[in-house]
Amino acid sequence: MDVRVVDHPLAKARLSTMRDARTNSAAFRAALQELTLMLIYEATRDAEVAVEPIHTPVARTDGYRLANPPLLVPVLRAGLGMADQAHRLIPEAQMGFVGLARDETTLQPTPYLESLPADLSGRPVFVLDPMLATGGSMAHTIRILAERGASDVTAICTLAAPEGLRRLEESDLPVRVVTASVDERLNDSGYIVPGLGDAGDREYGAV
Ligand code: URA
Repeated sequence: MDVRVVDHPLAKARLSTMRDARTNSAAFRAALQELTLMLIYEATRDAEVAVEPIHTPVARTDGYRLANPPLLVPVLRAGLGMADQAHRLIPEAQMGFVGLARDETTLQPTPYLESLPADLSGRPVFVLDPMLATGGSMAHTIRILAERGASDVTAICTLAAPEGLRRLEESDLPVRVVTASVDERLNDSGYIVPGLGDAGDREYGAV
């Protein structure tokens, strides 16, 4: 499985802001938004482009656009904090939504929303979820996408745990991962260490 770690100094700086327990929700969301731009930028590095002629005020030249823009799929709720910025960088993208709640006892994902196109064959899909922890939610989401024909899925995560990467690696799912860091491990409560805590709570406050 292809795992791309975006370790640009600016990405490290935004991630450090997110990790810092003193960072309030507004600053956390701002750092997540900026980091999302960098992750999407890297995720589209090898995207197919269509070439068409354009005219500058001076001459005719080649113009470029994404040949096959990805479907953006934020996983609610934490992935919502990445959606607007991903869309800002790829305004021509469509957006679908998957809602998964984590059962805090079993740590298993429980779906409550699937708002997606019926046919995803031939379409790249970017799944937006800040935390790849056990990999359960991500694997569940990718399975939902694969059932609709998706065969080119990119998981865009601010942080990944080795356990989650291993789970995706061992699955037969068509996925690559773009992340700002592969952290040390999961703790007994399923949190990434050193991590940043509960991403949804940090973004929106604990509810
Ligand atoms: N989800 C989070 O929000 N944080 C973790 O550390 C693990 C899963």
